Amino acid sequence: MLVLGLESSCDETAAALVDGRTVVAEAVRSQLDLHRVYGGVVPEIASRAHLEAVDSMVGEVLAGAGVGLGDVGGLAVTQGPGLVGALLVAMGFAKGLSVARGIPMAGVNHVQAHALAPFMVRAGEEAAGGLPGFPLVALVVSGGHTSLFLVESPLRFRTLGRTLDDAAGEAFDKSAKLMGLGYPGGRVIEEMAREGDPRAFPMPRPLWRKGLDFSFSGLKTQVQNVYRERDMDREPADSQALRDLAASFQEAVVDVLIHKLEVAAVMHGVRGVVLAGGVAANGPLRARAAERFGHLALGLPRKAWCADNAAMIGYLGSLQLGSGQNVLGLGAEAKPRWPVPEF
Ligand code: KG4
Ligand code: ZN
Repeated sequence: MLVLGLESSCDETAAALVDGRTVVAEAVRSQLDLHRVYGGVVPEIASRAHLEAVDSMVGEVLAGAGVGLGDVGGLAVTQGPGLVGALLVAMGFAKGLSVARGIPMAGVNHVQAHALAPFMVRAGEEAAGGLPGFPLVALVVSGGHTSLFLVESPLRFRTLGRTLDDAAGEAFDKSAKLMGLGYPGGRVIEEMAREGDPRAFPMPRPLWRKGLDFSFSGLKTQVQNVYRERDMDREPADSQALRDLAASFQEAVVDVLIHKLEVAAVMHGVRGVVLAGGVAANGPLRARAAERFGHLALGLPRKAWCADNAAMIGYLGSLQLGSGQNVLGLGAEAKPRWPVPEF
């Protein structure tokens, strides 16, 4: 059954057509250029831009797949978490289609969908080998979330840990801003760190031996302290000291993420791990995961599916429609704060 996935929770407007885990067509429009000057996502601008883009994203995927709305058997829409005014755009659009065409609609949790991205395949391509089976532990690291799950099956999640303050991606973004490197920070810091010394500056490894929760705000503060003490604002943006600071920060984040994932895998005796979300596009993090989890099955989404996309929404939504989980009526509300549901 062809399912149309829709995503508008933050700053990407996306649509995708999926058939189970096979992605038949997808379209994503990023709003990055609109928000960059503000150094972060401006909710009002995001909602308006989603409204302008959603219709053409849907048109694009239908044309790309050579099908019409009559061929769509199900709808999947991000119901939360996210910016409420942004979520309402795709939800309103999906509700309209659902009522006009009589198509059932599932409400999908965005964070849960990120965790299933490694299992998706492009039409005509083989699935990657060595994918983990269930149960597995999954770590979703993005700009808005850092959450660790025990995943018993694609529809059965149990939360093991989460960040107590900043998300990992948020720490990248805030640190980059403090260092005068612009927004968003993930890619810039990765780029700068490439020629930096990760041992140049001391960085904490917050909550190292303290359970499965995370904390990243202290790391950001340490970046700020080093930057100020060394008067780095006087240095050119490509100075060695800045490269070293970027590398030291990144190394600390990678250390903590991999360590907690490893502890969780051992605690729960699983043989598979998943690393997903925007930060999972980070090269050194991917390399370390491959090295450390070589004895386990590792699920890493292709880089494009680490970032926000509608294919993951369509995939999880098609599973939900198949089992009748969270099928929405017209009165359904967007859920700006919505922990992954536990059943
Ligand atoms: O999943 P995503 O696209 O949106 C959210 O749901 O938040 O994640 C965006 C986040 C941003 O904080 C961005 O800085 C981070 O992912 N990110 C990276 C990299 N690429 C994106 N962080 C570290 N290294 C990267 N290469
Ligand atoms: Zn996301």
